[in-house]
Amino acid sequence: MDEEMKKLFESMKDLEVKMGQVEGITFPESTCEIWDQIHNFQAREDDILIATYPKAGTTWVQEIVDLMLLEGDVEKSMRAPCFVKVPFIEFNLKPMKSGVDLANAMESPRLLKTHLPIQLLPPSFLDKNVKVVYVARNAKDCMVSYFYFQRMNKALPDPGTWDEYFSKFLAGDVSWGGWFDHVIGWWKAKDKHQILYMFYEDLIKDPIHEYRKLLKFLGKDLTDEVVEKIHHHTSFQAMKENPMTNYSVVPAAILDQSISPFMRKGKVGDWKNHFLVAQNIVFDEEYKKRMEGSGLSFRTQL
Ligand code: A3P
Repeated sequence: MDEEMKKLFESMKDLEVKMGQVEGITFPESTCEIWDQIHNFQAREDDILIATYPKAGTTWVQEIVDLMLLEGDVEKSMRAPCFVKVPFIEFNLKPMKSGVDLANAMESPRLLKTHLPIQLLPPSFLDKNVKVVYVARNAKDCMVSYFYFQRMNKALPDPGTWDEYFSKFLAGDVSWGGWFDHVIGWWKAKDKHQILYMFYEDLIKDPIHEYRKLLKFLGKDLTDEVVEKIHHHTSFQAMKENPMTNYSVVPAAILDQSISPFMRKGKVGDWKNHFLVAQNIVFDEEYKKRMEGSGLSFRTQL
């Protein structure tokens, strides 16, 4: 980590969590404060955007795509922590550089990240017909992963008990808004724009097949050997041990990995260890209502 970042991190103790809203969606107040800059962000035609609901496998796909663009050059992929090399557009946590500033200062081709629901995406991305890789993950595992993330992320509200969080998540009363609207909104847009809609569960089940799909979408062709190398370097274990992807460079005052590691489990079906029988019934009823007619389906176990 460079000296500048070290100093910045040292100055960030006792974070004050304040939330705000943009068009009814909850975000950290610092994001709301620069909303004009975010909305007016200028995408470039050769950008690639990774869009996800939080905890859907963003970091994983960022690393896969970066390595694909680098044709498997692992050393280059470790040039900077994942949150520096892939600017997070709506991120703004002072005194760090905002995602907008980081992206503006970056040379093309840029790999960018967002958790924004499609209706809040800066219009320039779709106007410029930017390639978007959307990654969706089943709601139950997302909920569990987000619960642990909110516990360890000192810039987000404390999630409360699991029972309290269950109700909040189901009601969409969490940062970046509700899971249902997010996955359905992007799903509806996928055939009108250059959007590759992927599923976390498919990536776990048949990674090489999904990596090939991604390569085709990116317009790249790599040998089986290079794809295997990328697969190896982006395995859960490799990314958990890699300081550039496991967020260990971020101090505990911001991400407290003694509460829960960023690379937590990386599995499909961990929800079964958390959902009570009664919660599962409530969830399945709501899910049926909300997803009906969407044409979108998820696997919650493999
Ligand atoms: P869990 O909390 O269920 O373990 P995001 O990057 O969108 O914040 O998503 C984080 C989730 O993706 C975490 O889920 C994390 O463990 C999982 N993840 C990260 N890298 C992964 C990998 N290489 N393989 C499988 N899962 C991964």
